[in-house]
Amino acid sequence: MMANNKTIFITGGAGFIGSAVVRQFITETDVRVVNIDKLTYAGNLATLGDALDDPRHCFEQVDICDATAIAALFDKYQPNAIMHLAAESHVDRSIDGPADFIQSNIVGTYTLLEAARAYWNGLSGAKRDNFRFHHISTDEVFGSLGAEGFFREDSTYQPNSPYSASKASSDHLVRAWHHTYGLPTLMTNCSNNYGPYQFPEKLIPLIILNALDGKPLPIYGKGDNIRDWLFVEDHARALRLVLETGVVGETYNIGGHNEKTNLEVVQTICTLLDELRPAAQPYAELITYVTDRPGHDQRYAIDAAKIERELGWKPQESFETGLRKTVEWYMEKADWWREVTAADYQGERLGLEKKA
Ligand code: NAD
Ligand code: DAU
Repeated sequence: MMANNKTIFITGGAGFIGSAVVRQFITETDVRVVNIDKLTYAGNLATLGDALDDPRHCFEQVDICDATAIAALFDKYQPNAIMHLAAESHVDRSIDGPADFIQSNIVGTYTLLEAARAYWNGLSGAKRDNFRFHHISTDEVFGSLGAEGFFREDSTYQPNSPYSASKASSDHLVRAWHHTYGLPTLMTNCSNNYGPYQFPEKLIPLIILNALDGKPLPIYGKGDNIRDWLFVEDHARALRLVLETGVVGETYNIGGHNEKTNLEVVQTICTLLDELRPAAQPYAELITYVTDRPGHDQRYAIDAAKIERELGWKPQESFETGLRKTVEWYMEKADWWREVTAADYQGERLGLEKKA
């Protein structure tokens, strides 16, 4: 693991995946984490658990688009690396309102790259050699697969939603800052994450919470779209491994080999709840087919051979064990999800803006 006395910037560390990375760093290493997060609707300090008050966790409520504030943070903390997770992350919201996605995902990444470049140019010796800018991205930049094939690191970029287009743009900026300016970058593109502390606008927590409340379980279209699911702690471990051992300028795909149709996912959650909290009727009776997502990508599936072969990463959690843990977590942590949803989201349908 990362040696003592290192300082890592983590943007988006109050969100779902970023907070898992922060929690792992604080509990499993000696590094100091500077958590840079604007605290949008999706960011919540309660996701940090005991890490929040650890003396090695420094929280900075800053917008990554604020160049002056970001430069001041580099100056103040003199980091060894930055892991960039801050983003608008929900496809349906990007359909309703792309502006925030352009701003945070593209302008925000550009702002961080420029601040990191200025800081890195001022470094010398081992600190300069070992500095890393790790950009965390998504498999959605590769578009949609048919029945066969997998996304590889050299797959063509074909983003289909405002969200994935904004993430693709940020990937291209990172690539350009490496090739043009020599900034020591790393990039990872991961498939769908699930697990504790995911904001309940995303499929798995939304279905769990609706089922617990006896509400309809909305399935877009026919429910035959396929996603490749990865437990969030496995993603966090992969990110730490890439930061530590990844080759500068390289990209790594991360995925769990867990391809499931949305209907399979929802039915599995229903079966788990039938066992863990039996109701008068089977939960699957709540399944409701609703209008499809505009431009809905049909299938995502990751070929994770490169990170497995070159860095020795393997997921520890199977979909069955991970989903059971997740369902149990949401059953136990009603305090958390009631708090995060209270302000501005109660499970309503998002992303129905019609094509022009
Ligand atoms: P999330 O929405 O749960 O969290 C995003 C965090 O970023 C929030 O804490 C939010 O407050 C913060 N943020 C947003 N805009 C900001 C800004 N302008 N300045 C500072 N902070 C800002 O997202 P997530 O699911 O944890 O995803 C994290 C990253 O991983 C994103 O870059 C996303 O594209 C990527 N990713 C997500 C998944 C997934 O399945 N969730 C899969 C692959 C990649
Ligand atoms: O592939 C990685 C991506 O996975 C990440 O980059 C994104 O940040 C993350 O949000 C996720 O995107 P998806 O669009 O795949 O996730 P979401 O949970 O929104 O939807 C998963 C699938 O379930 C998708 O096919 C749409 C469908 N769905 C979603 C919701 C919210 C439903 O059928 N019903 C729903 O209510």
